[in-house]
Amino acid sequence: LKVVHVAVEMAPIAKVGGMGDVVTALGRAVQDEGHSVEVLVPKYDVINYDQVEDLVQDGSFFFENCQVKVWKGKVEGLPTTFLEPENGHFWRGCIYGRNDDHVRFGFFCGAALEYLRVRNVRPDVIHAHDWQSAPACWGNRNGAGCVFTIHNLNYGADLIARAMAACDVATTVSPTYAREVSGSPAIAPHLSKMYGIRNGIDQDIWDPSADEFLPMQYGPENHKEGKAAARKELRRRLGLADVDVPIVSVVTRLVHQKGIHLIKHAAWRTLERGGQFVLLGSAPDGRVQGEFNALRDQLVRTYPERAGLWFAYDEPLSHLIYAASDMFLVPSIFEPCGLTQMVAMRYGTIPVVRKTGGLNDTVFDIDHDEERAAAAGLQPNGFSFESTDTAGMDYALNRALSAWYSDKDFWDELVARVMTQDWSWDDPAHGYIGLYYKSLKR
Ligand code: ADP
Ligand code: GLC
Repeated sequence: LKVVHVAVEMAPIAKVGGMGDVVTALGRAVQDEGHSVEVLVPKYDVINYDQVEDLVQDGSFFFENCQVKVWKGKVEGLPTTFLEPENGHFWRGCIYGRNDDHVRFGFFCGAALEYLRVRNVRPDVIHAHDWQSAPACWGNRNGAGCVFTIHNLNYGADLIARAMAACDVATTVSPTYAREVSGSPAIAPHLSKMYGIRNGIDQDIWDPSADEFLPMQYGPENHKEGKAAARKELRRRLGLADVDVPIVSVVTRLVHQKGIHLIKHAAWRTLERGGQFVLLGSAPDGRVQGEFNALRDQLVRTYPERAGLWFAYDEPLSHLIYAASDMFLVPSIFEPCGLTQMVAMRYGTIPVVRKTGGLNDTVFDIDHDEERAAAAGLQPNGFSFESTDTAGMDYALNRALSAWYSDKDFWDELVARVMTQDWSWDDPAHGYIGLYYKSLKR
């Protein structure tokens, strides 16, 4: 097959959240199965071009009276084509920004289809992602099949509805989220072509046994030493006391979806129970940022050297946090899939999550989900709760902390267990390849 992704985020060069991770990791996994994959992305000025191999300019074409320069390179081994329109749509110093994003990305999608036509690329399948690349589904695809993936239904639902109608096959990023959104007006009319495939994580990028951001690399056999070294380093970096207490952490965009009130509550609960709390958060919203600045001041004043809150998008620090922590919180209000709980497990950090979307498909509660885990071929791997109020959060977090404090042998066994569970793209990629073929037959 020849598959072309039309995408506006791509890890690591243009990543905002998990969608960028998925484009790169899924692309690589499908390529590894012997298919040809190319990713089309806007040539943003904010891309770190050191992370692009062999970047060369390769002519230009006109679209809507605008010259579009074509650049070719490789990102993480994936052939990538960068489109740079002379109208400056992607010279903004940011990926998202103003209220004309739908115009910028609409232009990009049109230009992407035009590029495929004028260069005679003739893909078998065009794979589009979320509202940003929705217009690629209803443009002139020149006979290519079209797979449309919803990473988050809460943005751009009108564009998503049109893409749902126009695509051959639609997917979303976990079976539970697929069920949760099945009644929504954008999805309900098209259920017969809708599939839920859970995301994976890129096991090369997220690999504690080869992670250069860690003070010591480790695997399931020496996780005690490796995690102890990471803990020491994280405590040094964030000014936390070097004492034998559990570290509970969060790495997230600070937006409503992620359960902001539950994160705040968990910070206090963790400290009350003698633990240390670490947050790495990127807040797109000034009001939310203000709230968290105040929270940090209160926490640090009440519990000196026990709370480290860092507000930035910081990839290297995120690796250290995944490795150094004992528990990782994802108390999302909704979560199409979520990658961080899987990354945490790969680094031997036990997830504490709200049972929603992909969290429900990847985290199986120690006390309640043995059967469900077994059906997935797994052993239970974390703690979860259902309600969106703080009592639910307490219920799961208290059980996790109690287990840590009272039964070290069990905890060590659990850490090794979650590290060996398979959250790679191998299975999900096969699911997508099957759907790529299905998109051709319609
Ligand atoms: P979403 O896409 O909704 O943000 P995901 O869990 O799918 O949620 O993906 C989030 C990705 O972004 C993960 O790779 C996570 O490590 C990363 N991430 C989120 N916030 C930050 C941050 N502040 N700094 C570094 N990485 C972050
Ligand atoms: C979205 C969702 C997240 C998902 C990611 C990748 O950003 O919020 O749950 O993991 O896309 O599909």
